[in-house]
Order: sequence, then structure tokens, then C-alpha cells
Amino acid sequence: DWNMDSFVDDMIKSIREKVGDGKVLCALSGGVDSSVAAVMLAKAVGKQLTCVFVDHGLLRKNEGDEVEAVFGPEGPYDLNFIRVNVQDRFYEKLAGVEEPEQKRKIIGEEFIRVFEEEAKKIGSVDFLVQGTIYPDVVESGVGKSATIKSHHNVGGLPDYVDFKEIIEPLRDLFKDEVRQAGRELGIPEYLVMRQPFPGPGLGIRIIGEVTAEKVKIVQDADAIYREEIAKAGVDKGLGQYFAALTNMRSVGVMGDGRTYDYAIALRAVNTSDFMTADAAQIPWEVLGKVTTRIVNEVEHVNRVMYDCTGKPPATIEFE
Ligand code: XMP
Repeated sequence: DWNMDSFVDDMIKSIREKVGDGKVLCALSGGVDSSVAAVMLAKAVGKQLTCVFVDHGLLRKNEGDEVEAVFGPEGPYDLNFIRVNVQDRFYEKLAGVEEPEQKRKIIGEEFIRVFEEEAKKIGSVDFLVQGTIYPDVVESGVGKSATIKSHHNVGGLPDYVDFKEIIEPLRDLFKDEVRQAGRELGIPEYLVMRQPFPGPGLGIRIIGEVTAEKVKIVQDADAIYREEIAKAGVDKGLGQYFAALTNMRSVGVMGDGRTYDYAIALRAVNTSDFMTADAAQIPWEVLGKVTTRIVNEVEHVNRVMYDCTGKPPATIEFE
């Protein structure tokens, strides 16, 4: 008789046996999968685990602090937590770069470089934790245990870090089971229910060049959008919803003055597998409220638009 409770207990026991007194390294993104995997490891081997969390400055508003609150020294778990604050380093690398694939490449490579530097400081480790879940295994071909989706947050990581073996505690679980395991492990609901967030983060929700100022704009707009969606109770069933910063500026009027500022695009989709998606019908009152708040509260935004496009022909993200 299978239940999540005993799955988690059994997994913790078997991890403990496997690891012995070895050293374990985990790249923590703050997403559901890596968070659940990290907590399982922490419960199994405590301080033998080191989690490296790279804050690349392309996270959602307050996300870095939220992750630190759970996994850092003030949090409930007994593990080694390293937050690498490399926001400026990423902004410098991205300065002047407009082409989407080029941006993705820079973010991915820089991420690996940062992780590699941290891994070197820790020294050789015995095990590397991956938050691979069952759909990832299927997607990359069963049997190729070390393969991960090319667009995965930590794509290609194993090649760059010196370790003996990979631990993938979530390999047999579907997403909803991973969330259930997270609840069993006492992970806060806002982390367990977190919507998918791409590895390149806000880097692909800012069309064109990424700057610190633009990151701040999209973070603030997105936080307002998410807050109002949740408050209105229309988040249930939405696959993903977020704000993006278009590269467009247009003329507006504020008080007696003319403005020439950015346009925010709001997106929300219904999807079963993220391969195809429909634009969700967010109630007009909610969109109106969000729009008013964004133009009032976020500097340099004078226009808000809703993306009505499905996938295909659009993608869910903007780049
Ligand atoms: P698109 O934009 O291709 O997105 O329709 C489909 C789903 O994949 C996510 N996505 C990514 N996830 N790294 C990730 O970990 C990436 O580079 C990446 N690009 C897109 C996207 O958020 C959506 O859920």
C-alpha cells in the first residue's frame, strides 16, 4: 500500500545508507523540484549537505530572500547553505546584449561558471543532487540517467563538477507527487505551489537588453500582478502567469505632463503540458486593478497590455 508518507521515509533511509559519511552538493534554484530534493537530503544527512544557491539577479521580487529564509541559517533545516550574490556580475555580462539566444547562452554559461567556482571552494564531493523528476526522465530517454533537459536550470552541470555519483530522489515522481512530498517534509506552501520559473529567469521576460533598472521594473510589476491574481482567487488552474517588460516605449500623459515610458505585458496561460497553451481569460476587473496599480506604483511604466496569444504561435515566455 503506497503512500507519500512512507515514500519519503524510505527515501530518506536509503539516501542515508547510500551516502554514509560522504559529502553531498546540491544546486538549489528555489524551484519546487530542487527545494524538495534539498530538504530530503538535509533530513537524511544534515551538515554533510551543502546547497549552493546562485542569485543571478534575474529572480522574482524577494525570491532570493525567500529561499534564504527557508534554507539559510535562520531556517528550520540543518545544512550548509551558500547564497552567491552575483547580480552585478550577470548584469555586466548582459550589458548591451539584445539577441535572445545570446542572452540565454550567457546566463547559462555564467551560471555554470559561478557554480563551478563554489564547488571548487568546497573541494571534491562524493554526491551531486539533481531534482530530476519522472517527466524529465521520460523526456531525455530512459536509461540515460545523467541526462537532463537542455533547457534545465542547471543544464550540463555534472560535466563541470568533480563528483562520484548523482542522487536523484524524485526520479519516480510526477509533479503533483513532488509537491505532496514537499508538504510531507514541511516545506512552506508558497514554495511547494510555486509555478514554473525558467532557468534564465527574468532575463527572458525582459525583451532586449537587460539592465538592473529593467529588472526592478519587471519585478515590481510582476509582484503586483501575482498579488492581485491571488487576492481575486483566480490563480487556481492557471499554468503560469507573470509580467514581462516589452522593449517598447510610448507616449502617455501624467498630470499635466507628457510621458515616454515602457509598456508591461501581462501573460496568463492554461496548459496541461506547457507544450501548447491557451491564453487564460482573466476577469476584466482584475486586469483593470492590476493596470492601475502598475502604472501608479511602478516608475517608468505608462502602459499595460494583456497577451491574448496562445502557444503556438507564441511561446509562453517572451524570448
Ligand atoms: P516556452 O516559452 O518555450 O516555455 O513556451 C515552456 C515552459 O518551459 C519554461 N522554460 C524554461 N524552463 N529553462 C527552464 O528551466 C529555460 O530556459 C526555459 N525556457 C522556458 C517556461 O517557463 C514554460 O513553463
